[in-house]
Amino acid sequence: MNLASSSRYADVLICGGTVVTPNGCESIDVACAAGQIVALGDLCRLWQADTVIEATGLHVLPGVIDSQVHFREPGLTHKEDIEAGTRGAVLGGVTAVFEMPNTQPLTLWQTDLQAKLDAAQGRAWCNYAFYIGGSAINAEQLPQLENLHGCAGVKVFMGSSFGDLLADEDSVLRRILHHGRRRLAVHAEDEARLRQRRALVEASGEVCQHPLWRDEQSALLATRRIVQLAQETGRRLHVLHVSTAEEMAFLAAHKQRVTVEVTPHHLSLVAPDCYQRLGCLAQMNPPVREHRHQRALWQAIADGVVDVIGSDHAPHTLEEKARPYPHSPSGMTGVQTLLPLLLDHLHGGRLSLPRLVDLTSAGPARVFGLEGKGRIALGFDADLTLVDLRARRTIHNHWIASRSGWTPYDGLSVCGWPIHTLVNGQVVVRDEVLTGAIPQGRPLRFLDVLPVSQSAQP
Ligand code: DOR
Repeated sequence: MNLASSSRYADVLICGGTVVTPNGCESIDVACAAGQIVALGDLCRLWQADTVIEATGLHVLPGVIDSQVHFREPGLTHKEDIEAGTRGAVLGGVTAVFEMPNTQPLTLWQTDLQAKLDAAQGRAWCNYAFYIGGSAINAEQLPQLENLHGCAGVKVFMGSSFGDLLADEDSVLRRILHHGRRRLAVHAEDEARLRQRRALVEASGEVCQHPLWRDEQSALLATRRIVQLAQETGRRLHVLHVSTAEEMAFLAAHKQRVTVEVTPHHLSLVAPDCYQRLGCLAQMNPPVREHRHQRALWQAIADGVVDVIGSDHAPHTLEEKARPYPHSPSGMTGVQTLLPLLLDHLHGGRLSLPRLVDLTSAGPARVFGLEGKGRIALGFDADLTLVDLRARRTIHNHWIASRSGWTPYDGLSVCGWPIHTLVNGQVVVRDEVLTGAIPQGRPLRFLDVLPVSQSAQP
């Protein structure tokens, strides 16, 4: 065959890398055109491209999806905004995010969602979807709201964390669970117990008491309640940032209905050390706890109980974090350090590469029913994260794009680093540097989103 006469034009060719596909690790080339993967392996020779990425020595992963970030826009953009948040995402190898509803105003209605979609247009460096908050005032409208274009689903705060979003009574939770069919994402801490126990830490001013205030029982009580209610109502659940050994044991027995997310900080930081070193910078809800919990989370990853790792990127300024505990807000940055930390855990032997891909890309795509994401295969979207598993780097605050400008991992040396990031077939980070491209992130598409009238058909 005359190859020259039959060549076609791709936008990007990735040559010589080790590509993580559903078959395992393969030494193959990848061609991307019009935002999709159009050829793999030998057939790439039929494609020419203006942009060729020489990927020898690199691993090509399906783009990392961070299904839990707080980008604070609108209302709190002194902490973070969509442009800086997504810039941090792509510098950290993340190609898609699900953003949380505890902004100001809260994301409760179609107009709130539309305002976020408008704000992201032309300013988001990666792909995105936005959660609608589930509450007493919009429960009956959730079937329509969760089906809106660009909606990641419904998120419920059972315990108050940051902002005013709260649904803690069984009667309200039942109404929310009854209205809608997509997997419901839950922050499970028991509000009544949290209120009762706050006095324990109010006087001490010691952030190392944070896990005492928001203790294991607070998490377990809420997780048990919501799983019980989901069983009663036949709804699927996604329990966010699971932080205790007891919840993991419970959730392992409910995997038919419930998917499980953990965070890099619960896997990487440990109490009391983190509070001694970092003070309120380590303050997070649910809290970073002692070693036995962290061991249980890693065991749950090994056992396949965990479906997703999401960062819970929740920035506050250093000034806000300097308030005396417990008046300091809970939350830390995480979207940009998610992958570097996990690559370092891979290097340390705690995680295999296929499992890392499962937890950060294929897992979220499966759990949330994302269209065209989560695997490197023909016809899938060309969202790709190229990493050097041997690159050693030190994480520094000055590398962090977040408007809050800090990370709890400042000064940490890690092995494994994102080098190039492609979003919709466009190279947005090349050789660790943001390219001059215009932000072209798009709303994510979901498989099980159907107009309500159609979804009600037999
Ligand atoms: O520590 C936290 N901070 N946990 C959450 O779930 C919310 C968050 C925030 O928005 O700051």
